[in-house]
Amino acid sequence: MSFPLLSIEDLNVTFKTSKGPVMVNEGISLEIREGEILGLIGETGCGKTTLGKAILRLLSGNAKIEGKIVYRGTDLLSLPEKEMRLFRGKEIGIMFQNPSACLNPVLSTGRQIAEIYRYHESMGKKEAEKKAGEMLELVGISSLRGDDYPHQFSGGMLQRVMVAIGLALRPGLLIADEPTKGLDTDTKLQIAELIAGLVRRENASMILITHDLELAGRLADRIAVMYAGEIVETGMAAEVISNPKHPYTFDLLHSLPGKGFRTVSGQTPGPLSPPSGCRYNPRCDLRLKACSQVHPALLGFCDEHFTRCFLYEKGRRKETVAQPTLNVHPAPGYVEEEGAWNC
Ligand SMILES: Nc1ncnc2c1ncn2[C@@H]1O[C@H](COP(=O)(O)OP(=O)(O)OP(=O)(O)O)[C@@H](O)[C@H]1O
Ligand SMILES: [Mg+2]
Repeated sequence: MSFPLLSIEDLNVTFKTSKGPVMVNEGISLEIREGEILGLIGETGCGKTTLGKAILRLLSGNAKIEGKIVYRGTDLLSLPEKEMRLFRGKEIGIMFQNPSACLNPVLSTGRQIAEIYRYHESMGKKEAEKKAGEMLELVGISSLRGDDYPHQFSGGMLQRVMVAIGLALRPGLLIADEPTKGLDTDTKLQIAELIAGLVRRENASMILITHDLELAGRLADRIAVMYAGEIVETGMAAEVISNPKHPYTFDLLHSLPGKGFRTVSGQTPGPLSPPSGCRYNPRCDLRLKACSQVHPALLGFCDEHFTRCFLYEKGRRKETVAQPTLNVHPAPGYVEEEGAWNC
């Protein structure tokens, strides 16, 4: 663990829409290291799926992608489509957000997995079917169920099938987009642990896209928090969970049952008209005057811990416009006497 497997450099994704261009990923710079699980979290609409699809160049025709996405030394954005196809599935696997929409309803699940081997590895029918059966067994489904169709599986089983598809070609990186969405608590944990276990066993890496900060904290090595198209915080998972720096991360954590259950006030801004300055400033209890005027950069706070927030500039606290709320939930790490922040 530690060498970058994938490096995303200053990525912008803009969609052309009837209301004008909307930038839904802006200035994204992220590294995913060999053997690492990165949890990518954030509220609905913040741009997580767009980022996952941009990596594999699977976005719709109205998307413009700028920046670099370098996988094991190759800039994926500069590849001709024919070469890019060799990376999809084989080097980078993806589990899409909604299994029932992704699986073909009129093909048996075993056949859908077998097709991957036939297409990518030019296997014969029998051999591909045998490999498909092995993949089903690997994810905890009897190979005999390979003859069954998607509608004959429960939600949790369908997610297992998606895991088998995502990992079929033993990719170096798996992008798992909300793999536990809509599942009950127990099944959710089982599926998440199954995926993480298989990824670790293969010494592969994973971007685990989820709304669930607790789940990311449990399974990921590092966490990146997205808000309104930008990364607002990254750090080691345990550190981000126990010592969040960005007020958005802090508010997300305190919205969890058992940690206050306090909903994050206000609404996520739409990508057509993001607020000026810090995008979180209209919802932030700790905003400073500068927050509505200047866009903060993502800056290193301590080792491996980065945040996009002016609060961490020494001596800025006096400008806070929402002073009383500081007493309710001061951002962690602030040492009042010293007027500074601790790691
Ligand atoms: N093809 C498209 N054309 C125009 N806008 C799009 C397109 N695809 C996504 N968007 C917009 O981009 C923004 C980010 O969407 P995205 O699906 O990446 O969010 P997300 O974080 O994955 O949300 P969720 O948690 O609900 O899955 C949304 O405002 C969405 O409406
Ligand atoms: Mg999504």
